[in-house]
Amino acid sequence: MLLENKVAVIHGGGGSIGGAAARVFAREGARLYLAGRSLPRLEAAASAARAEGAEVEVAVVDAMDPDAVERHVDDVAEAAGRIDIALNAVGFDHVQGLPIAETSLDDYLHPVVGYLQTNFATAKAVARHMIAQRSGVILTISTPGARLTGRGLLGNAAQSAGLEGFSRALAGELGPDGVRVVCVRPHAMSDALATSYTGAMFGRTAAAGGIPMDEWLTGLVGMTVLGRLPTLEEVADYLAFVASDRARSMTGAIANLSAGALVD
Ligand SMILES: NC(=O)c1ccc[n+]([C@@H]2O[C@H](COP(=O)([O-])OP(=O)(O)OC[C@H]3O[C@@H](n4cnc5c(N)ncnc54)[C@H](OP(=O)(O)O)[C@@H]3O)[C@@H](O)[C@H]2O)c1
Repeated sequence: MLLENKVAVIHGGGGSIGGAAARVFAREGARLYLAGRSLPRLEAAASAARAEGAEVEVAVVDAMDPDAVERHVDDVAEAAGRIDIALNAVGFDHVQGLPIAETSLDDYLHPVVGYLQTNFATAKAVARHMIAQRSGVILTISTPGARLTGRGLLGNAAQSAGLEGFSRALAGELGPDGVRVVCVRPHAMSDALATSYTGAMFGRTAAAGGIPMDEWLTGLVGMTVLGRLPTLEEVADYLAFVASDRARSMTGAIANLSAGALVD
């Protein structure tokens, strides 16, 4: 198993990617601490992970609140004795699809501030423990908006590029202490639409372009080299690999899971 005896904290652990990662990390032998906003979603993700044989604890923690995150992470470190993996899979609805003339400053800054705030808070809280134990991996998730161009991407592009820059810089800071930082950049996953904030957000983006959601998704598929979008399971499998010791030489990397919509 890839993650045998590893202790993993997942913020946004009840979400689409967070829950899929919990299931795969569980299957690969990790002990899990799932933190998030809604207890029912956390419990559902925990049940699925327990069905894979893992020990799982859940906690309601506001991942935007640095003090709350730090208290929870300190509790986890004390209970488990260490933190090997920290994944921030927090996601929230925001404005996409509008031109700059129709975008308010608040709507533009909402994803930029929110994603950078939560990733700063969770990374800072776990870094102290990982530095002390001289090992660990911090995983962040950006979007292809970091590199794409086109209409309606302003806030998404700025938050994604900002998060990738944050991840690179943090890798440089923590590398000498044996701590890795990897950012994973998946394309939109159509099997996440039913559970993710992206369902409503992409629906509005398609509507703003005057086309049905199916047609909008077909357009995204058409931009990929592989002729398909990634699945939640594939992204979770990749996160498990990157979190494992088999990826021990990988840090400061932005992993491109765009199915070839972007090529390096
Ligand atoms: N889905 C995609 O196609 C896609 C593609 C590329 C990148 N991503 C990235 O993947 C990440 C996760 O997206 P997702 O699709 O898994 O979203 P999701 O299914 O909507 O899950 C996001 C999770 O974050 C939780 N959350 C939101 N605000 C929180 C807060 N303040 N404190 C604690 N938890 C909070 C939500 O809690 P509730 O359960 O209470 O809602 C939810 O469980 C995001 O960074 C997104 O940009 C997603």
